[in-house]
Amino acid sequence: MNIQRDASIGIFDSGIGGLTVLKEVRKKLPGENIIYLGDTARVPYGIRSEKTVLKYSIITSEFLIKQNIKLLVIACNTASAVATKELHNRYTIPIIDVVNPGAECAVAVTKNKKVGIIGTIGTIHSGSYQNAIQTLNRDIETYAKPCPLFVPLAEEGWCDEQDEVVRAVGHRYLDELKQTDIDTLVLGCTHYPILKQAIQHVMGQSITLIDSAEQTATKVDRLLRELDLAREPHNNGTCTFYLTDVPKRFIEIGGRFLGEPLENVHVVDM
Ligand code: DGL
Repeated sequence: MNIQRDASIGIFDSGIGGLTVLKEVRKKLPGENIIYLGDTARVPYGIRSEKTVLKYSIITSEFLIKQNIKLLVIACNTASAVATKELHNRYTIPIIDVVNPGAECAVAVTKNKKVGIIGTIGTIHSGSYQNAIQTLNRDIETYAKPCPLFVPLAEEGWCDEQDEVVRAVGHRYLDELKQTDIDTLVLGCTHYPILKQAIQHVMGQSITLIDSAEQTATKVDRLLRELDLAREPHNNGTCTFYLTDVPKRFIEIGGRFLGEPLENVHVVDM
């Protein structure tokens, strides 16, 4: 297989949440060209069956592979949880998911060997974070909790730890995890980095939060260097966004997730 260094990195997500991953990749690798595909016509993935998420993940990956990308990043935690193995089986290009980097970091960081994981219903029920952590270290106990309402909160921009709704939802989900004596908590959903401060506030400062987006970007950086496929940082990388549907609101929310206006957005039918 002849992969070109100047080819783009392809990133896909169920919607705009994966922009938290794109943001970290851009920070680490400003020279890379990135094609982002957000499946906004089918979002959310987190409440759908594994079969459906797998089907959607294949459709979105197929689109990116056709753009001759050099690396595929599965930015969606739910898609990573259920589709990583199948995508590795189907394609020969390098693929990075978000679950394994987050799990590896949690294993490295925990001192008392008690790790919490939060994510969508699909991610938590798949057991993929739990399995990835226990495969790396069988002695680690995991405590997992789906927190579906964090997704609309982040999209609504209700993220302030002083906001009473955010605090109430945070306590409702996380108080149970606090009782378990975990010292590390994996933010296993694209949207949760947006709520990081609020989650930290509820959990307390002694808990280490693992941002899967940051860990994934580190892994992308390492892998491209290993494969000698990294572009020099002084080359200005470009970002092209494809969405399967573009409600007006998404551009606005996307800009907030990315921390800069979303430009170069195209609608693609699939
Ligand atoms: N991107 C999804 C994830 O990280 C969250 C949104 C959704 O449910 O599609 O799991």
